[in-house]
Amino acid sequence: MSTEPEFRDVIVLGAGAAGLMCAIQAGKRGRRVTVIEHNDRVGKKITISGGGRCNFTNLNAGPGNYLSRQPDFCKSALARFTPWDFVALVEKHGIAYHEKKLGQQFCDSSSREIINLLLTECEQVGVEIRLNCRVNEVRKADRFSLATNTGTLECHSLVIATGGLSFPKLGATDFGYRLARQFGLPLTEIRPGLVPLTFASGDSRLGDLSGVSVPVVARSNGTSFEENLLFTHRGVSGPAVLQISSFWREGEAVAFDLLPGRQAAQVLAEARRESIEPEALLSRFWPRRFAETWCARYAPAKKLPHLNAHELKDLASALNAWPVTFPGTEGYAKAEVTLGGVDTAALSSKTMEARQVPGLFFIGEVVDVTGWLGGYNFQWAWASGNAAGQFV
Ligand code: FDA
Repeated sequence: MSTEPEFRDVIVLGAGAAGLMCAIQAGKRGRRVTVIEHNDRVGKKITISGGGRCNFTNLNAGPGNYLSRQPDFCKSALARFTPWDFVALVEKHGIAYHEKKLGQQFCDSSSREIINLLLTECEQVGVEIRLNCRVNEVRKADRFSLATNTGTLECHSLVIATGGLSFPKLGATDFGYRLARQFGLPLTEIRPGLVPLTFASGDSRLGDLSGVSVPVVARSNGTSFEENLLFTHRGVSGPAVLQISSFWREGEAVAFDLLPGRQAAQVLAEARRESIEPEALLSRFWPRRFAETWCARYAPAKKLPHLNAHELKDLASALNAWPVTFPGTEGYAKAEVTLGGVDTAALSSKTMEARQVPGLFFIGEVVDVTGWLGGYNFQWAWASGNAAGQFV
């Protein structure tokens, strides 16, 4: 192993979506770039994303789809690399894709195609990718100096694209946060986002409904999402729950509208002409198993014409805003993203460079910008990677 440090213009830490995009853009500008990845493969999260088909962007992506202490921070980068820019890249590489719903773009075949796209683009501009490479120490004098298991590397620009804490089994680490602290950058609170919520242990109110899916509007802290709720063995998941989990706080209730788009009071009033129990009525809207279980717990065991005004009112209100308190989540092991991260107040929204540390850049999920479910997080990774790639 050489003892002489190797020099690069740019070193990117993390060969995920953001890191590879940044490397490509910097390579296009003629910069000598090395990407360091501690895994034995690049882009493991891309591989498993979107159920193996990678929901690589969302055509509706805009600043309103992101959570951040500074909601405007993401505006500039998103405007300079739009969903259509990534779609153009997908088309250039002949990848077949489709919209699933709500602007979400997926590969027809496999997320592997997105990895191949990124690797091909890297190769075309001479980006070097070092796998199985571990960084033991980072120092800064005139240049950054990185002590790694493959020797010492030096660079003018160091880009941190090591992602968040979610899915540790794919190699997620807190490296980016530790490095931010080392250089005196503030962090915002970090917690799991887009994550299944769990019932209190021993809570058997609803029995085992795992696998049952119901259309709902999920509401928490002034935000709502109309999507499906899916029961799991330990709690709830599905797109409505994952979305609202990023707005919910531990121990709070989420209110589920179980008859989206309908006034429950009116539905009940109209159904009172029939001599049926609530369960029979609600089975028209819900899977039978859910109607049975929910009604056994929350609806009076009487035929609708026999419900008094008070009972009708309570039932209607439970149907349009069923409150469920969740003490916790499935944690980082099952969270799609990490909320919070490097405080954007410490970064330039134009370049992603740390204001107080020239040459040090943070991009992707390690930054306090977190998207909704549906391709928004990759769009942030591409956009922030592109932004830094123009200035490293
Ligand atoms: P990312 O985590 O992708 O990459 C970071 C890289 O850094 C990794 O390769 C990691 O191994 C490496 N690394 C970490 N520490 C290191 C160290 N110390 N040294 C060297 N390398 C290090 N989003 C979306 O828009 N559409 C979707 O379909 C999905 N689907 C999805 C499914 C699942 C199961 C998960 C967990 C997540 C998603 N996401 C998603 C979210 C999306 O995957 C995520 O937001 C982006 O991958 C973030 O990109 P980054 O490049 O910032 O981090």
